[in-house]
Amino acid sequence: MNIGILTGGGDCPGLNAVIRAVVRRGLHTGHVVTGFEQGWQGVYENRTVMLGRDEVAGILHRGGTILGTSRFNPFAKEGGEERIRRSLNDNAIDALIVVGGEDTLGVAQRLHEGGINVIGVPKTIDNDLNGTDVTFGFDTAINIAMEAIDRLHTTAESHHRVIVVEVMGRHSGWIAFYAGISGGADVILIPEHPFSIEKVCNALRRRHESGRTFSIVVVSEGAKFMTGEPGDQDGSYILSSMKKDAFGHVRLGGIGSMLAAEIEKRLDYETRATVLGHVQRGGTPTAADRMLGTRFGIAAVEFAEQEKFGFMVALQGNALVPVSISEAVGKLKTVPDDLYKIVESFVA
Ligand code: F6P
Repeated sequence: MNIGILTGGGDCPGLNAVIRAVVRRGLHTGHVVTGFEQGWQGVYENRTVMLGRDEVAGILHRGGTILGTSRFNPFAKEGGEERIRRSLNDNAIDALIVVGGEDTLGVAQRLHEGGINVIGVPKTIDNDLNGTDVTFGFDTAINIAMEAIDRLHTTAESHHRVIVVEVMGRHSGWIAFYAGISGGADVILIPEHPFSIEKVCNALRRRHESGRTFSIVVVSEGAKFMTGEPGDQDGSYILSSMKKDAFGHVRLGGIGSMLAAEIEKRLDYETRATVLGHVQRGGTPTAADRMLGTRFGIAAVEFAEQEKFGFMVALQGNALVPVSISEAVGKLKTVPDDLYKIVESFVA
């Protein structure tokens, strides 16, 4: 078979582990592997690279993706689908492995409906893809965020300050929740539960009146103030830019400093905001993400051999199972209430 592979959307630690595993498993069973550069853009522009053993040597520990990535949407271009089809034909691709999150896999699903042979691999640090227990990249992101929270603890404690840490997580609070609980945060705010600034301040006041001299608040970039609260922007996200990407997403950011200002104003505790941003996405993947990326890559080649087109490799329990891409992108995987409620035990 001639197997194509692309990596799309925001980059993510573990992408190179997937590419390496696809190539190694592919070569082992006599396939040819063609990489497309910069996500869907590379298919649209017919930019390819042959992937052999040498091309994937020494990349396992590296962050980012050797293929490059983009948020390019062929369906937003005139004749985009036709160009994708032509490019795949020109390169005689039998199966295309698409490594991405909801947007990149959403494109794969539409192409699959048009008869293109796609296999999905779930990628996002946000961990919000449906049908899989976890996406690769999430483990690295939460470890980076946890370590940052550990570091912020010592400076917050020394200065008797409140520190608000803004982490990624557009629609779901997995990163804030996992990093916040493992980092011992005092308040954790996620998009799934719009928050009351009054309640946040009451919790911090109670904590400081009971003798604590500092606090750590972790907030997802996509968290929202409750409707009608000061800070509420008509129920919409706090944005760092109005610019939209090719999938119509605005750029989030700024809730951390907004929250910090509000806390300082109401409580008169010295407060600082830290935005972790892309630090969470860069750099070397954890062992768990290298392992998961490797397993996903090998399974994706097996899916291609078994002609499981239109399916994504998903982790359920410890098994890799096929989940239809339409199910994976059909809804978001959010933090369930019964899990989130453990934060109640740690709020002052
Ligand atoms: O990949 C997901 C994500 O990291 C989100 O958490 C975040 O909102 C977004 O990507 C940022 O995208 P960009 O790198 O395009 O600014």
